[in-house]
Amino acid sequence: MRQTLEDTLLAAIRTIPDYPKQGILFRDITTLLGNARAFRRAVDELVHPYAGTKIDKIAGIEARGFILGGAIAHQLSAGFIPIRKKGKLPHDTVRVAYSLEYGIDEMEMHKDAVAPGEKVILVDDLIATGGTAEGAVKLLRQMGAEIVSACFVIDLPDLGGRAKLEALGVDVRTLISYE
Ligand code: PRP
Ligand code: ADE
Repeated sequence: MRQTLEDTLLAAIRTIPDYPKQGILFRDITTLLGNARAFRRAVDELVHPYAGTKIDKIAGIEARGFILGGAIAHQLSAGFIPIRKKGKLPHDTVRVAYSLEYGIDEMEMHKDAVAPGEKVILVDDLIATGGTAEGAVKLLRQMGAEIVSACFVIDLPDLGGRAKLEALGVDVRTLISYE
């Protein structure tokens, strides 16, 4: 019998206790990426709702959002926008400070990465507090993008990220959650 999507993904994701800080249960998707079947299923499932919809660009958040976002952009024949940790992008950028489950940082996007009115899907591997995704939403909206959805493989609902994005008027899609 075919495994359910949830079973396939849960079996493929590894949990590392106390990484990168004491008390954090780190959900490590490198094992999912290394599993051809699970990787394909995750990407197919994330792409599915947009079949037949014109999407201009996928915005992927460094680092794991680049891997999933690149695959999704290819599937949807969309362009790709890298949203990077500060200091990594070579041209003129917009920058925002953000906080996440285990720290604070700043992220950037090239000013010319998106044109006003372009339809964009934001992609990352996981949403926890939503601080990272909220920062990316601010950058994209600052440059006039229309955010069609924000997609993640993993939701940590206890940390409130999905609710935070939905309160900003963002459609949020996730495949599995860890309570
Ligand atoms: C992880 C994850 C998300 C973010 C989610 O990235 O890939 O980007 O945390 O946390 P939040 O919802 O609480 O903001 P991380 O900052 O560990 O960066 P990395 O992908 O470069 O390792
Ligand atoms: N980003 C924020 N919290 C995380 C977690 N628990 N596992 C993996 N990435 C994360």
